[in-house]
Amino acid sequence: MYNKTQIQDFQKITKDFLANPHAIELGTLKSVLKFHEYQYYVASEPIISDFEYDQLYKQLIALESTNKSLITADSPSQRVGNSLNNSFQTVAHLVPMLSLENSYNADDLFDFDRKAKEGAELATLEYCVEPKFDGASISLFYENDLLVRACTRGDGIAGEDITNNIKQIRSIPLSIPLLANGIQQMEIRGEVIMSKKSFIDFNQKLKEKQIAPLANPRNAASGSLRMKDPKEVAERNLDAFIYHISYYLAAPGKTPSTLLTTHSGSLELLWSLGFRAPQKEKKLIAGIDQVISFCSEFEAARDTLPYEIDGLVIKINDFSLQEKLGMTSHHPRWAIAYKFKARQATTILENVEFQVGRTGAVTPVAKLKPVAIGGVVVSSISMHNEEYIKEKDLRLGDTVIIERAGDVIPQIVQSIPSLRKGNEKIISFPLHCPVCNALLEKEEAEAVWRCNSSLCTAQIIEKIIHFVSKDAMDIKSFGEANIRKFYELGILKTIPDLYTLQLDKVIGLEGFGKKSIDNLNAAIEVSKKQPLYRLIYALGIRFVGETTAKTIAAQVHHILDLQNYSEEQLQSFEDVGVKVAKSIFQFFQESKNIELIKSLEALGLNMIQTNTKAVDGNLVGLNFLFTGTLTQLKRADAEAMVEARGGHILGGVSSKLNYLVVGEDAGSKLEKAKKIASIKIITEADFIELINIHSKY
Ligand code: IVH
Repeated sequence: MYNKTQIQDFQKITKDFLANPHAIELGTLKSVLKFHEYQYYVASEPIISDFEYDQLYKQLIALESTNKSLITADSPSQRVGNSLNNSFQTVAHLVPMLSLENSYNADDLFDFDRKAKEGAELATLEYCVEPKFDGASISLFYENDLLVRACTRGDGIAGEDITNNIKQIRSIPLSIPLLANGIQQMEIRGEVIMSKKSFIDFNQKLKEKQIAPLANPRNAASGSLRMKDPKEVAERNLDAFIYHISYYLAAPGKTPSTLLTTHSGSLELLWSLGFRAPQKEKKLIAGIDQVISFCSEFEAARDTLPYEIDGLVIKINDFSLQEKLGMTSHHPRWAIAYKFKARQATTILENVEFQVGRTGAVTPVAKLKPVAIGGVVVSSISMHNEEYIKEKDLRLGDTVIIERAGDVIPQIVQSIPSLRKGNEKIISFPLHCPVCNALLEKEEAEAVWRCNSSLCTAQIIEKIIHFVSKDAMDIKSFGEANIRKFYELGILKTIPDLYTLQLDKVIGLEGFGKKSIDNLNAAIEVSKKQPLYRLIYALGIRFVGETTAKTIAAQVHHILDLQNYSEEQLQSFEDVGVKVAKSIFQFFQESKNIELIKSLEALGLNMIQTNTKAVDGNLVGLNFLFTGTLTQLKRADAEAMVEARGGHILGGVSSKLNYLVVGEDAGSKLEKAKKIASIKIITEADFIELINIHSKY
């Protein structure tokens, strides 16, 4: 949507603003924010960090708060709704929202093509083939450039007004250049989806809060549309593809774009207006034979997409032919859906195992009669907690429907009670830990039963497994099986044992030659230098995932500084709520945890915030300037290093400057900087060290 010059202009405005945050006019600020939203959410080519976007956004809020009359309906600030204005009133669609006819094989498609050719009176037809997005359909109405209303499909004739929730989806623009394209009103259709990554992240968050996960990205999207609180919708990180213009009205005296004569043209127009319309995802194909081969190729590649699709939609490209063919009361005659093979299967729930995790949480795992779905044999699925079993009324011996959505973990969708024979058994949760026999406990308002015994072998082993895992200390070549083996041999009973392992005791055991021992030793040594956030994550503090670990690490110098933080102070960290703060606080109050950390420090593990913090943005909020000739680094590279870490390069010496990096033959800038006490004057060597070990400063 933006051309090269516009992109460069916006980049420059952004850079200048970040260097000097107050000098920006409201109109410019809004278009800059809109530009960055587009780059991030539609074009998938962000050019600034989240932090920088937030700086711009904060400035917008500050400017708008000085005078409320400056707030326009399409201001990025207007995406934030509140729960009070969600009305969900019924609204009639301008044009009914029809469904699609389904096809499942080549014969169905040949049939469709034959009828379409007869209707069109042509020997061959050109089709536009695009993904059938697996989400929830929506209808949007724009008038005089502004998004006026967003609705659900409802019964196809009328839907519900969900405008406030839809405004939370950043790939849906609040305003578009309609009038400039000769259009006054436009009604468009699309699909709200949740990407596979957002789905996994969202379920992870639910898991940390001990809430049962959502079954698949489609449910996650459709369940969002009618949520009471738009803020909850925003948290779901939804996206939307727009694939159809159902109605438009020309602006008085204007002729709308000539693109509006074909379906592929209308997708191009939608894209140029700023929507995420299928562009790279669509293909124009002449003749049904080619369409059929394209469908099978695409089906084989479906898992490579970052979002779920459940088929392809084949549409006659020419609008005049579409009109000629018309529609039934259910579906257009000019389009058909080619549905992919279902990723659902039915099987028998044969048994339940209760597994004890590193936090003592007891998870019921369904043992299923092995069944293939989407090319993978599934025999075991987590049932999360007791509530999940009750809600779905799952019983031993039940026939259950299971589903695997792309690369997402398989789920039990439901049981089929009508197939029960009468000998199915209610699943009862154990009262005692299946590993150490301690009495299980459940906190109020929690769904999880827990073994709280510190002597529980299962927990000890799981904690060690977590500590060495890839996202934690990443001790390569130390798999789960080895940890269990070493535990049984008695040489690995605690986390510190990892660093004093008597590996001579395992030499000669199956799989442990000299080479593998050397590799293991090397991996253990490397892990000592891991950045602090990995250690924090590896310690397995409840509710502290990788992101929270990074947030916490960024706030401290030494890990034990965390002993000095109150719950309130911890809550002031981004993303740290009451529950997480409490858990971190408790962890650092327990003497056995402090002892563990101290013994790891004595064994040589890094406890200090080091260079990885830099890679993740440790120079955020700091301003730099280089002067004189650098001898080791190129000036441009040095500046890029600062920016890559979230810092900024200033144009001159001012009180905003934090660091002046002085090369050879520095002149007036150095003299000026010496007069401002707050500026740190450092050498090139200091700078290199600063980049590597930021925490020293
Ligand atoms: S065209 C008259 N295109 O599939 C036009 N629909 O099973 C009808 N869908 O209700 C819709 N991706 O929610 C169209 N690329 C796509 C689609 C798509 C997903 C959904 C849509 C529709 C349903 C029909």
